[in-house]
Amino acid sequence: MVEVMSHLLRLPTTCVLWSGLVHQSAVTPTTPPADDGTGLFPPSTYGRSFADVYDDWYHDISDAEATARFVAKRNGIGPVAELGVGTGRLVPALVEAGLNVIGFDASPEMMAKCPPSEGLSLVQSDLAALPLGEGRRGLGSALCAFNTLFNLGSVDLQQQLFNTVASALHPEGTLIIEAITGIGLAEGARDSLGVSRIDPDRLVLAATQVDGDAQTIVGQHVDISEAGIRLRPWRLRWTTPAQLDQLAKQSGLRLTERFADWDESSFSEDSERHVSVYGLAG
Ligand SMILES: C[S@@+](CC[C@H](N)C(=O)[O-])C[C@H]1O[C@@H](n2cnc3c(N)ncnc32)[C@H](O)[C@@H]1O
Repeated sequence: MVEVMSHLLRLPTTCVLWSGLVHQSAVTPTTPPADDGTGLFPPSTYGRSFADVYDDWYHDISDAEATARFVAKRNGIGPVAELGVGTGRLVPALVEAGLNVIGFDASPEMMAKCPPSEGLSLVQSDLAALPLGEGRRGLGSALCAFNTLFNLGSVDLQQQLFNTVASALHPEGTLIIEAITGIGLAEGARDSLGVSRIDPDRLVLAATQVDGDAQTIVGQHVDISEAGIRLRPWRLRWTTPAQLDQLAKQSGLRLTERFADWDESSFSEDSERHVSVYGLAG
């Protein structure tokens, strides 16, 4: 299902200029979303699991201002599409940096927490089936932060995201991905159970299973309080930087820059995370 959120229906003037960019299917419920590749973790899983605690637990998980500076320097002509906008953690910094933002997300629960902003419109959509007008080339950049790409549970679904973005980018536009490299994961402990949070009235345990061959991590945050036990499931399919470059190539994009972080620190073979920038190839 693809549905424009209420913020989008109250389009600020600037958004009207972009309306041709978001394909008409965005305003009407159409095909059901693709699943995650396993059928067990549909696109809405992450939001159902974390919407109520996301801002509390993850508000400072990365440097929003540094992210926004980085994106603003690499935005072509047009708005930035934040893919997996969530609760809008990065949006105020992006808008403050002068960017207009179209936020895409599968989870109405997450987007409901996104404060309205003059420079923001929201579209409910599966990232594997983005309703971007193919060939319109009006997107200044697409930002997929904080491992969000890996919520797409198979290489094919990730390839679909690359293909759609490549077809919608302005000639000088960029696709910017922040993700783990997967280093150490393939060889690491397969099963683990750890303490994620301890609050006076709450204990959150994190159980994970890593499959190095399938490049997947399946997890449960087990949230225990006097109210009871709440399960918060999630799944990532990680793709190495070299594999991402291959997906990019197959969609007509090429790597232009790679850093270890938003502050542009050098990337090396030992880096655990990367920020990669792709532009249209030739
Ligand atoms: C880790 S959060 C990141 C939120 C935000 N970008 C940030 O940096 O704080 C991942 C977001 O991606 C969304 N998401 C996960 N899988 C998705 C899918 N297949 N299609 C659309 N959104 C998806 C989730 O609902 C969630 O809001």
